[in-house]
Amino acid sequence: MIRLTDPEFNDIVDFVKNNYGINLAKKRQLIESRMQSVLTEKGFTNFTDYFELIKQHNSTEITAMLNKLTTNHTYFLREPAHFDFLKNTILPAQEKTNRQKDIRIWSAGCSSGEEAYTTIMVMMDYFGLQKSSWDYRILATDISLKAMDAAKNGLYSAESLKNVPQAWGKKYFTSKPNDLFELNKEVREQVTFRPLNLMENFTFKQPFDLIFCRNVMIYFDQPTKNALINKFYDVLKPGGYLFIGHSETVQRDSSQFLYIEPSVYQKG
Ligand SMILES: C[S@@+](CC[C@H](N)C(=O)[O-])C[C@H]1O[C@@H](n2cnc3c(N)ncnc32)[C@H](O)[C@@H]1O
Repeated sequence: MIRLTDPEFNDIVDFVKNNYGINLAKKRQLIESRMQSVLTEKGFTNFTDYFELIKQHNSTEITAMLNKLTTNHTYFLREPAHFDFLKNTILPAQEKTNRQKDIRIWSAGCSSGEEAYTTIMVMMDYFGLQKSSWDYRILATDISLKAMDAAKNGLYSAESLKNVPQAWGKKYFTSKPNDLFELNKEVREQVTFRPLNLMENFTFKQPFDLIFCRNVMIYFDQPTKNALINKFYDVLKPGGYLFIGHSETVQRDSSQFLYIEPSVYQKG
């Protein structure tokens, strides 16, 4: 077994925290055990040489490592209360007030795309025959290129569809061999996937109506979460919403967001 020394551990914890926000300080054993096969495959005999490769900012290598140490797991209609809120509160309000009929949404930390695609299906159902008169675009971003490649392919397992109602199964998916389901092109075309590290400065030309950043900040420490939440605030329209994961919170004294209901916040 290749051992992880104290300086190597401290070095990679600092690098990942400073560049990706992810706090690996309590993951020493996990790093040592999960990265063994990667080191062996690549012919490394110590962690220092492998970390040198990582520190060259090779995003494929970094995200392969982070994928082993964190989770990309997601599925359609995860945390459905958010999609009820979208359908019952946000979209009716948009219909009343949004004369341009354009809605901009960001799925930040989209993984394999289920969150963004669920949002599109909710909106397609909601607008029905009117959908062509609305311009709703979703930007979906992640650091994991592999997860986003899977998203663009649009092929999903039955496990990923476990919450999908039968009507959606019929309307939006085509059954494929090996128990896979292909998401229809009509839904896929409405989402733009782009690599984006949430630690970087945001340079969007237009603000968003709604941002999803769910189950992403679980690995970030509190100052990193607070700073990111403030950056989300800055790129939302007044009245826009932020959805975070149900196990996550926005600290009230460190942000200007209004609390609406658990894991739903609004820019005043
Ligand atoms: C568990 S998935 C969440 C997927 C989806 N939002 C959900 O709630 O099901 C977490 C995602 O956050 C991404 N992530 C972690 N740190 C990131 C960062 N600094 N910038 C962008 N994405 C990041 C990971 O690559 C992973 O795909």
